[in-house]
Amino acid sequence: MKNINPTQTKAWQSLAQLAKENKDLTIKSLFSDAARFDKNSLKFGDILVDYSKNRLDEKTKSELLALAEETELKGAIEAMFTGEIINGTEGRAVLHTALRNRSNSPVLFEGKDVMPDINAVLDQMKAFADKIQNGTWLGYTGKPINTLINIGIGGSDLGPVMVTEALKPFQNPKVSIYFVSNVDGSHIAEVLKKADPETTLFFIASKTFTTQETMTNAHTARSWFLEYAREEKAVAKHFVALSTNAKSVTEFGIDLNNMFAFWDWVGGRYSLWSAIGLPIACAIGFDNYRKLLEGAHAMDNHFRNTPFEENIPVLLALIGIWNTNFLGATSEAILPYDQYMHRFAAYFQQGNMESNGKYVSRDGEKVNYPTGPIIWGEPGTNGQHAFYQLIHQGTHLIPCDFIAPANSHNPIGEHHQILMSNFFAQTEALMNGKSLDEVKAEMEKAGKPQETISKIAPHRVFEGNRPTNSILVKQVDPYTLGALLAMYEHKIFAQGVIWNIFSFDQWGVELGKVLANGIFPELKGEETITSHDASTNGLINAFKEMRG
Ligand code: F6P
Repeated sequence: MKNINPTQTKAWQSLAQLAKENKDLTIKSLFSDAARFDKNSLKFGDILVDYSKNRLDEKTKSELLALAEETELKGAIEAMFTGEIINGTEGRAVLHTALRNRSNSPVLFEGKDVMPDINAVLDQMKAFADKIQNGTWLGYTGKPINTLINIGIGGSDLGPVMVTEALKPFQNPKVSIYFVSNVDGSHIAEVLKKADPETTLFFIASKTFTTQETMTNAHTARSWFLEYAREEKAVAKHFVALSTNAKSVTEFGIDLNNMFAFWDWVGGRYSLWSAIGLPIACAIGFDNYRKLLEGAHAMDNHFRNTPFEENIPVLLALIGIWNTNFLGATSEAILPYDQYMHRFAAYFQQGNMESNGKYVSRDGEKVNYPTGPIIWGEPGTNGQHAFYQLIHQGTHLIPCDFIAPANSHNPIGEHHQILMSNFFAQTEALMNGKSLDEVKAEMEKAGKPQETISKIAPHRVFEGNRPTNSILVKQVDPYTLGALLAMYEHKIFAQGVIWNIFSFDQWGVELGKVLANGIFPELKGEETITSHDASTNGLINAFKEMRG
């Protein structure tokens, strides 16, 4: 990939000019074009993406598309799909798309087709997941497994948690699944309270198999298990490893027959499509897991082959760049109106912020423009009663993605219509707002005295003009979820390309890890610590004193 500073492109200059000229442009006014919704929404299977409620006119859209051309996004997409080393700082290819390449066409990495290895692991996963699903994988006392515990963190946790939660209606009722990620002992302690060693299976999920939190939890789980089982050979029936590191898996004591492999061209935050997805397949069945891969594959084809003006991930990426770099937004909210999707925003917090939270460009210089936004969000309607106040009337511009299914898995009474009326109302309110005149007229009609009106009315005004994307799906099922996930992944990648940063490394997590390793032994002894700055010394010494 070339190093192109986006701010040096012609399109960037035009966009900066347009942002100035259109600073008073309202989204509402853009709807004088009766065809705006049709021109600014796209369908992909059962997914409708409406981006018409953005401060985006046709001229701006075409300049954003020109920016994608000038920054050579098309070539970068091909480079990713064809296994070029686009993760430049780690010297790795980025091939999570091959993991879900259901067409099975060859994908070459260093001259070798990776598909046979991928298919072999998928077969191994299917055979294992089938045994869990039909109760034929037996524990050391001969009982079927009914409790699955995934031990992993970051990408080795968030994807499987998010997907198993989002697809809970597809879960086999005979199995329960739990996730342990935090090294805080309370996490594993609480989960183990629910587990019976005779019927519990642990997935030790770690790309590197060296992550401190995961290895600490894994050893605790092993000791807990052996306290009951009392014989090492029982471990083989209750522990499997999902990893790239066969050596460390063996050292931990897991039989290589119980290891599900993946490769260093799978980024941690893109790994639910690999062996890291095994707990998903065991919970919802392999056929459903395969549908998840199929949905993602369909979106991969769309992203790779569709002209940019109709390419959903590319358009979402460009709108995000417009909001971030030209309208001054610093965060984006992801708001699923689906309770099962309650970890979706958390998942893309890692997906987006670990990928694009970078201030160094691909040529090693400090960038002079904002890159990845802060990602946050909670399901609606809960968020409405918590933080929407700030989205409506705060001083920050917060572009929001509203996501909802047309059909609920639990069509109880009028719950879903009530939920969806809130979804539609919020996007409408964020766009239209409410003027001072409207507020005054309303208060007058309600018979409020003039004094009250002039005092209170300004507080009841909504400026509106807050951008939103609305993503409607027929139902949250494995295929649709797969497509949605790939859509966001590709949006993030496209933005990274345009911002001229490396989206597939994560050096920013290293420093804290290294320092923690140095501090850990200092917490053990009695001696006063003096090796740090005064604040860190003070805190460590206070901690030791409080522990007595
Ligand atoms: O925190 C950084 C990170 O490397 C993530 O990118 C990754 O998903 C996570 O740690 C877990 O890593 P591993 O799967 O190697 O345990």
